[in-house]
Amino acid sequence: MLTPTGDLVATARERGGAVCAFNVITVEHAEAIVTGAEDAGCPVILQISENAVRFHHGRLAPIAAAARAVAMSAGVPVALHLDHVVSAELLEQAAPNGFGSVMVDASHRPYRENVAATASAAAACHAAGLWVESELGEVGGKDGAHAPGVRTDPAEAAAFVAATGIDALAVAVGSSHAMLDRTARLDQELIVRLRRAVPVPLVLHGSSGVPDDELTAAVHGGMVKVNIGTALNTAFTGAVRATLDDRPELIDPRRYLIPARTAMAETVTAALRLLACPARV
Ligand code: G3H
Ligand code: ZN
Repeated sequence: MLTPTGDLVATARERGGAVCAFNVITVEHAEAIVTGAEDAGCPVILQISENAVRFHHGRLAPIAAAARAVAMSAGVPVALHLDHVVSAELLEQAAPNGFGSVMVDASHRPYRENVAATASAAAACHAAGLWVESELGEVGGKDGAHAPGVRTDPAEAAAFVAATGIDALAVAVGSSHAMLDRTARLDQELIVRLRRAVPVPLVLHGSSGVPDDELTAAVHGGMVKVNIGTALNTAFTGAVRATLDDRPELIDPRRYLIPARTAMAETVTAALRLLACPARV
C-alpha cells in the first residue's frame, strides 16, 4: 500500500531502526524492491532520482506511474520519494505524480546559497504536502565529484535545519556514492554528535559502499533513512551477465530479466533484514 514517506521514517525512528530507500531506474527495479520488502516483511521507500528521470528522456510521469502502481499493489507499506532533485521544474512535478517526499539537493552550493535555495524549495514543497529531505556537506562520488573527506559539521547542521525547515537531513559522514566495493568507513562518533545536534531524522547516502557492521552501527547511532542504489545494480547486472554468458542464444529479455530481478530482490531482503527489522510491519 502507498504510504507517506514521513510516516515510514517516523515509525522507524520511534522503533530505533531504519527505513531503507532503494533507487528505481526501471519498472523491474520497483518490482524487485517490493518483492524483497514483502519477503522481509518490512516497509520500504522507492526512490526515483533526477538522473533516472533524465534516462527516461526527462519524463517523470511514466516511471512514476509504474512505481506508484507497484507500490499500491504491495503487501507492505511503500513510499514514493523523488531523489537528488536539482531542477525546480522537476520538484513541481513531485506532488502531482503521487510522490510523498522529495530530496532537495543544493549540497553542491556554498552554505548560504544551499540554505536559501533549500528554504524556498522546502516552503513550496510543504505547501504541496510533501516531506522534504535535504543535504548538507556533499556526500560526493557522482560525476567525478568524489569527496570522501567531506564531513557535515553538527553546529552548522543544526543551523541549516532551523533555517530551512526541512524534515530530514542527509549528512556526509564518510560514505560516497556509487562505490562498487564495500570499503567505506563511517565516522560513527560524528553520527552520534549529529543526531544529538539535529532535531530531524538523519539520512545516509551512498550506502552501497558501506559494510554491514558499519551500517548497523550507523543506524544504532542515529541514521534513520538509508539510501541504497548501486548494490541493486551490481546484483541485477551481475545476474544478466551470468545468464547471457551461460546462454548466449537467449533473445527474450524476460529470460535474463527474471534472474536479474530475483537477484535484486534478494539484495533488498538482505538489507532490510539487517537494518529495518525493528520497524517491521
Ligand atoms: O540517493 C541515493 C543513494 O545515496 C544511493 O547511493 O548508489 O552509492 O548506494 P549508492
Ligand atoms: Zn544519494
